[in-house]
Amino acid sequence: MGRTIVAIVATGTALVLAALPIVLALVSPGGLGGLAPPDPATPSGEAINQLYWFVFGICAVVFIGVETALVLFILRFRRRSTTPVDAEGPQIHGNTRLEIIWTAIPAVILAVIAIVVLVRTPAVQATGGDRSDELVVRVEGHQFYWRYVYPDGQISLDTLVLPVDRPVKLELVSYDVNHSWWVRELTGKQDAIRGQVNELLLRPTAEGTFDGVCAEFCGVLHAVMPTTVEVVSQEEYASRIEQLSGQDQAGEAQLALGRQTWERTCAKCHGPEGQGDLGPPIAQNGTLVDEEALRDLLNDGLDTPGVEGYMPPVGRGWPAFQVQALIEYIRSNEDLAPPEQDGGGSG
Ligand code: CUA
Repeated sequence: MGRTIVAIVATGTALVLAALPIVLALVSPGGLGGLAPPDPATPSGEAINQLYWFVFGICAVVFIGVETALVLFILRFRRRSTTPVDAEGPQIHGNTRLEIIWTAIPAVILAVIAIVVLVRTPAVQATGGDRSDELVVRVEGHQFYWRYVYPDGQISLDTLVLPVDRPVKLELVSYDVNHSWWVRELTGKQDAIRGQVNELLLRPTAEGTFDGVCAEFCGVLHAVMPTTVEVVSQEEYASRIEQLSGQDQAGEAQLALGRQTWERTCAKCHGPEGQGDLGPPIAQNGTLVDEEALRDLLNDGLDTPGVEGYMPPVGRGWPAFQVQALIEYIRSNEDLAPPEQDGGGSG
């Protein structure tokens, strides 16, 4: 009797634990804390959600069926107190009909899942509709930040601004190791691989701010490589793009690009005031304002065999005006500018 109770309690506990993900997924509003996907903001996200719930539904039915049968069998065929301890169960030599059934049913289920997934997966790439006013944005994965380049050369780091209701093509590339761009509300994840251009086609249908991550382990600061996508009205998009520093801008716009570059790239390793963190302190280092030396360092990084300390080629692919913007920002910042530059002014 005691053993029966133990068996029932153990089975019950195992069932509750196993069913927990299902319960969580059903009550979850989505987001990182939950197991259910977030509300989609694009047809691509909608297609992913449909596939998720389709596969989830079938799995839930199978799970409940199997676990129910398991519990019933445990209770129904357990050893009774009247049965001798050394009693043998009935000796069975297979059952052809049963075996065919329990092979065929899973095969049919798997085939249905495979067919539906293969048919629906292309819908994740938003190829349909009028794409004549497609917005092409270059998405560069770098250790350890995202660099977005808009059609007229404007640059933003880690934050991507997109207009609502307009087809978007993201061209993903990498300048060092593999990264993966993933903003769950918008679309599926796509790798950024060196030497290759991968595409993501999507059409944001709702305004809002959507958080994403780098989904491919890419080095020591992989965890601080998140991204944000701000989907705004077409008018706001135009004015936001205007504010982003392009090639010919100087003054405030240039300083803004320089500050963004410092904060999103240098400061992640060297600290917000260049005081040193994962990387060594670099505040007031002469190289910071020596355009040629800085450019070489940003392009090549530091990776000497046998020497501790690795710096990624963090500025590979930057145009000269971005390096200049960084230098102007450093010159304008008292904490960062080398003393001989007589920093403190605005450049
Ligand atoms: Cu980039 Cu992980």
